[in-house]
Formats: sequence, C-alpha cells, structure tokens
Amino acid sequence: MTTAVADARKISETNAASIQERVESAINAMITSLPDANEISADQRRGILTRYTAVLEGNFIYWMTGAYLAVKSEAARAIILENLHQEVRDCHPGMLRRFAIAARAVPTDLDAMAVYEELTKVRLFIGRLSGVPIVVMMAFFEGFIQKFMEFLAELAAGQVSVEREYTDVHGVCDIAHTAGLFRALAEEMTISPTEPATNLFEGVDLLSALIHRIVDGPLSV
Ligand SMILES: [Fe+2]
Repeated sequence: MTTAVADARKISETNAASIQERVESAINAMITSLPDANEISADQRRGILTRYTAVLEGNFIYWMTGAYLAVKSEAARAIILENLHQEVRDCHPGMLRRFAIAARAVPTDLDAMAVYEELTKVRLFIGRLSGVPIVVMMAFFEGFIQKFMEFLAELAAGQVSVEREYTDVHGVCDIAHTAGLFRALAEEMTISPTEPATNLFEGVDLLSALIHRIVDGPLSV
C-alpha cells in the first residue's frame, strides 16, 4: 500500500467512525420516539403492523439490490451479497407475510397509500445508485430493524399472535449485517469517494421520514 493510499484509507476510517456515531444516535432517537406498544389503540397497533408490512415486504430486497449495484468495493459487495442470499434463500418476504397474517395485519390499498409519498422518495434515492450514501442508509436501516423487532413483537402479541419467526430472525441476523456494513463503509469511501457537497445522510433522513409515517399513520386531510 502506498503512503497516499494509506493516508486516504486512514481518513476514510476516521470519517466512517464519525458517520457510525451519527447513525447510531439517529437509530436511538428513532427507537426512543416509539410509543408504548401497550398504550396505543388497537387501530394504531394494527396500522403500524400493516404499514410496516406494506413497506418491507416488497421493497427491502429492491433496496439491497440497489445497494449492491451502487457499491464499488469488494468488502461492501460481499456483505450485501451475503445479505441478499439470506433474504432470498430463507424467503424473508414470505416470513413477513406469515407474521402479518398471524397478527391479522395484512396490508390494504389504504396502507399502501398512507406510505406512498415517503416510500417513493426512498425508492428514487436508491435509484440514483450513489454508493456511500446508500451504504450509510442500509447500515442505519439494519441497525434500526434489529432494535425495532422487540416493539414489533409486542404489537403482534397485542394482536394475540404467537408467530415470531420474522422478529426472532431479524433481531439476531441484523446485528452482524449492521457491523459488516459499517466495516464496508470505510473501504467504499476510499475506493469511491463522494463529492464534498454530497449529503451522506440523505437516505437516513428519507428513511427516517418513512419510518415515522409507518408509526404515525397517514396524514389527516
Ligand atoms: Fe430480512
């Protein structure tokens, strides 16, 4: 490794560490803002489950595929590919659908409309295929999901469901995925640096708005 490459790598690692800190605090803020699962109404409880399913079931693999197409580093590709394999091989969309059926929370057209605006913004962001901001967004999302599972399982319990495969699997596997994505971030930043004006947290902000819409429900007209 030449001195210049080593220097660039060092800078990327420092930047990646500060990004990780900011992402972790965004995750904690999101988790802290969640309502008490035992104090919300039955409609709110079911609505969070249906909107979550409406978003995740058909989009997570698309987001992850977009991340795969966008990144240039081998480290990032390997981690994302492993994640995609797991999603497809273990049929995570089917697992989520079983979870929703058992909780009597199958999404309807109204749920799709409730999240439409925020979801579209995330889809268009992914479509720009900008490697580093997408890895930052996916690291945020994997970290968030892992902590969100406990809340989701409480909502399912409130719906008198005992189906827990989806929440059990994602409460564990996403710990490794999140750590892997943060490891890959430094390499991606070295190989494929962004323009100085790039907002590295654009995806995190868009996804946060989408999660708030899932939790808070549709805007009243
Ligand atoms: Fe999954």
